[in-house]
Amino acid sequence: MRLSHTLFAAAAVAALSCSAYAQGQPPLKVGLMLPATGTFAALGDMIERGFKLHVEEQGGKLGGRSIQYFKVDDESEPSKATDNVNKLIKRDNVDVIVGTVHSGVALAMARAAKDSGTLLIVPNAGADAITGPQCAPNIFRSSFSNWQPGYATGVVAAQKGYKRAMTITWGYAAGNETVKGFTEAFEKNGGKVMKDLTLPFPNVEFQPLLTEIASQKPDVVFAFFAGGGAVKFVKDYDAAGLKKSIPLMGSGFLTDGTLEAQGASAQGLITSLHYGDNIETPRNTAFRNKFAVAYKVNPDVYAMQGYDAAQMLAAGLNAVKGDMSKKDALYAAIGKAQIDSPRGKFKLSAQHNPTQDFYIREAKGNYNVVTGIAVKALADPGRGCKM
Ligand code: BEZ
Repeated sequence: MRLSHTLFAAAAVAALSCSAYAQGQPPLKVGLMLPATGTFAALGDMIERGFKLHVEEQGGKLGGRSIQYFKVDDESEPSKATDNVNKLIKRDNVDVIVGTVHSGVALAMARAAKDSGTLLIVPNAGADAITGPQCAPNIFRSSFSNWQPGYATGVVAAQKGYKRAMTITWGYAAGNETVKGFTEAFEKNGGKVMKDLTLPFPNVEFQPLLTEIASQKPDVVFAFFAGGGAVKFVKDYDAAGLKKSIPLMGSGFLTDGTLEAQGASAQGLITSLHYGDNIETPRNTAFRNKFAVAYKVNPDVYAMQGYDAAQMLAAGLNAVKGDMSKKDALYAAIGKAQIDSPRGKFKLSAQHNPTQDFYIREAKGNYNVVTGIAVKALADPGRGCKM
């Protein structure tokens, strides 16, 4: 995975400005704990690519320090999460951990980060507790809380005039919390969720649940699936004949990074998310062009979140000139930074979760095209966080 020479050359100029003050410091040890196997493998890969793209734009250094990567495949397996994260914390003695995708794995990582005091930046997993009851001064998120995209999609579904909804998801933190957010907004705006359907993560035996949807005939179905599971679900929903009769909506993970594989089955699906492929700003255009040149594929929401995790780390490290021992100043700088993200500029809430716009998107060809705003500057309620 090599970035282009042009990108390296431009980045070298940026590096010169910070290298002076960090001379003599050892490389910064960055632990990447992401899925490299299983249904979320592609998501982990995009996060890593996004993170490394920003580092290379900065000349391979953050806060003037070169980067040494340590990697663990977490397999999206919560039962192995504590052992896996301790490989990075205790064996490799990393300075910062970036991870992960799966909410259940991330909850164990947050516990270990809180206990050890290691800086953790979560580049995807939405587990509400991470910026709720489990919040901590050393834990930050560059992505979203599960509540946020669920809530935003609930607003859009109600605006479309749907009254009776069914939900379907994997029965783990991400699915359950996204559905809770959807239900809160949908019911507040006049709708009613008739029934929640779940299956265990990462199962993809959707047929019995699709049969139940067909017999109940709701006005709309709300789904949370992602990665390989989202590809199969969208195709099965269409193959069961449901796409024609019962509109399918979802948080944007249902169609992000998956459209090529979903083909005609995904066309026209409406979702809500904090990113869309065609956000027409110079910032997003530059990000997308550089990513495509470096990796020969288009970025998606996961790549953008990885890129912003590196931007957040850079904001902190620049403030302390690469000196990780100045923890209070490091965390304060990340906490108050305005991140110039491809999604649009954002700041973190007091609980360290992005306060951000949620877009309405429609799947057209291989793109999730923004057609409007679902909710502007949506902040996670941060329930239960005491910092
Ligand atoms: C999660 O487990 O938090 C998650 C996984 C994939 C996409 C979005 C959220």
